[in-house]
Amino acid sequence: MPSNPKFSSGNDERRTHRLLWCAAIICTILTLAVIIAGIITFLGYVVIHPRVPYVSVINARLDRIQLDYAGVLEIQVTVVIRAQNGNEKSHASFSHSGYILSLNGEDVAKLIAPPFEVSKNSSVDFNYDVQSLPIPLDPEQAEDVEVALKTDLVTFDLKGSTRVRWRVGPLGSIRFLCRLNCKLRFHPLNRTYIPSRCTSKAK
Ligand SMILES: *[C@@H]1O[C@H](CO)[C@@H](O)[C@H](O)[C@H]1NC(C)=O
Ligand SMILES: *[C@@H]1O[C@H](CO)[C@@H](O)[C@H](O)[C@H]1NC(C)=O
Repeated sequence: MPSNPKFSSGNDERRTHRLLWCAAIICTILTLAVIIAGIITFLGYVVIHPRVPYVSVINARLDRIQLDYAGVLEIQVTVVIRAQNGNEKSHASFSHSGYILSLNGEDVAKLIAPPFEVSKNSSVDFNYDVQSLPIPLDPEQAEDVEVALKTDLVTFDLKGSTRVRWRVGPLGSIRFLCRLNCKLRFHPLNRTYIPSRCTSKAK
């Protein structure tokens, strides 16, 4: 039996309708999924009241500082940086941790840590033990260091950051950038650190 062209075209129209409906439903479901993921992230952020992670220098030590007659500087320092995760519901992943230690504008050492995890409501102390390569200073810089050694006060700049990520819900995650930018002061004679505020935590 030959098919009726009119009837078959009506069938096509219905099929097109059905396809449009399906597309509309899928769109709606996807939109809802995005909205729900957003709400979960928002609830995670606001209702759980997580505390923002931060890093801070909790201790340091100037193990060695040596300036020879040619003006070549060598240093060795230990810096203890605490990574704090105040979130009681979620682990925090710390990555890209890198800080530059400089003296009178001259970079002397790089503090680098591999990625690490901090569990819920806890902290990890990272010991950065760095030794500089011999750094040739120009006469002016060498004089500044000599003065610092004589007055028993050496001031370094510490600058850098670490990235932190919280997983929230099945899809969401919240990212932070924790920056440090502070001065580390030492008494070179007895190698001790003069504690001061050095934290990425907002006041
Ligand atoms: C989180 O840590 C603080 C201090 O260390 C403690 O007082 C508090 O009970 C802890 N909360 C949870 C849920 O473990
Ligand atoms: C290190 O030297 C400074 C300055 O002389 C002094 O104030 C400080 O108490 C000393 N620290 C220690 C642990 O001896």
